Amino acid sequence: MPDETARPEVERPPLRAISERGPVSFADPGITVDDIAAVVRALESGWITTGPECDKLERELATYLGCPYVVGVSSCTAALEIALAWLDLPPGARVAVPTWTFVASAFAAVRNGATPVLVDVDPHTLNMSPASLEAALATGISAVVAVHFGGVAVDRAVHELCAAAGVPVVEDAAHAFGASDHRGRLWGEGSVGACFSFYATKNMTSGEGGALATSSEEVATFARTYRLHGLSAASWSRHLDGANGRYDCAVPGIKANLPDLLAALARSQLARFPDLQARRRTLVERYRAGLAAIPGIEVVPALPVAGAADHLQVVLLEEGTDRDRVAVALADAGVTTSVHFQPLHRFEWFRHNAEIGPGGVPVADRLAGRALSLPLHPALDVADVDRTCNALAGAVGR
Ligand SMILES: Cc1ncc(COP(=O)(O)O)c(C=O)c1O
Repeated sequence: MPDETARPEVERPPLRAISERGPVSFADPGITVDDIAAVVRALESGWITTGPECDKLERELATYLGCPYVVGVSSCTAALEIALAWLDLPPGARVAVPTWTFVASAFAAVRNGATPVLVDVDPHTLNMSPASLEAALATGISAVVAVHFGGVAVDRAVHELCAAAGVPVVEDAAHAFGASDHRGRLWGEGSVGACFSFYATKNMTSGEGGALATSSEEVATFARTYRLHGLSAASWSRHLDGANGRYDCAVPGIKANLPDLLAALARSQLARFPDLQARRRTLVERYRAGLAAIPGIEVVPALPVAGAADHLQVVLLEEGTDRDRVAVALADAGVTTSVHFQPLHRFEWFRHNAEIGPGGVPVADRLAGRALSLPLHPALDVADVDRTCNALAGAVGR
């Protein structure tokens, strides 16, 4: 006889978008039951730090990106630091970095003994301005960190100017996993490498994590060693049958490996990444239509960019608008916002320790108080975008 009192197996519902519960959240990792199952499998496997899951992720990323080598690391910050370490910069090196970025883009150079030279940005994309970079290159620059802001690839002229000057480029692609440019899908072709972030708010996440994609076997080998203190053999390979457990240390590396627990989450997200990106594209198109109707609002990028990864939906408020007041009004309407970015040259440490490139950073200064990032993630629906646009129209109309 069946036990009538037994409770039926309850299927766990997919985690719901925060938007369905009320507020329009700024970001959402969109964790699904498949993600949870993938992490549980990794937990149950008996090997939770860097091992077979990380290996598989690296191969799957290389296939998706269409590139020869991918090395999983603990963050985009670590990937940048490793790529710059590979360049073995000379003492007193100066590294060009856009002032409109996150501090990590510049600190990777600082950790390698270099001084950041902050260059201005293009007002339509907030990416590094080729003219400002050209002026900086003329002053003797050892490397350039090219940041693909919001998932829009830098102007092709950035690569051309650096190639002409013989200056290596490290691509900060923290926002740009899945983006493409004149080279095709972005993975560091022609540069030292592309550094991706899988931080919790990024288009694809492992909670914390990142990857360095490169065409160079030497860079990849260096990164594999450098991410694990410079040791010649990782613990997984030392653990394999037949391994003798010995290793050497040839370079003072850092601790920046990507554990299997996190790689498992990244693999699960990668499996549905095209759907996540399609969703972002739908939302960005809806934003563009809704924002066009709000007087005084400029959308970044100013024009749609076909290969953009649609990581952020940034707007520029009308000059003279009190951004804090707008952000509070949006929060009161249940819409969470953020700011990307406060230009580096305005931070205390940078004021004392960085250089500003020739010609200064007038565009960044003009736009610094005007940028506001609106919610954008696949758990939103077009109604959330409409609600955000209405709230913004109300906030700036007051
Ligand atoms: C432009 C940029 N570069 C680098 C990073 C660092 O990424 P991670 O947190 O993976 O180190 C971020 C993080 O948000 C970023 O926005």
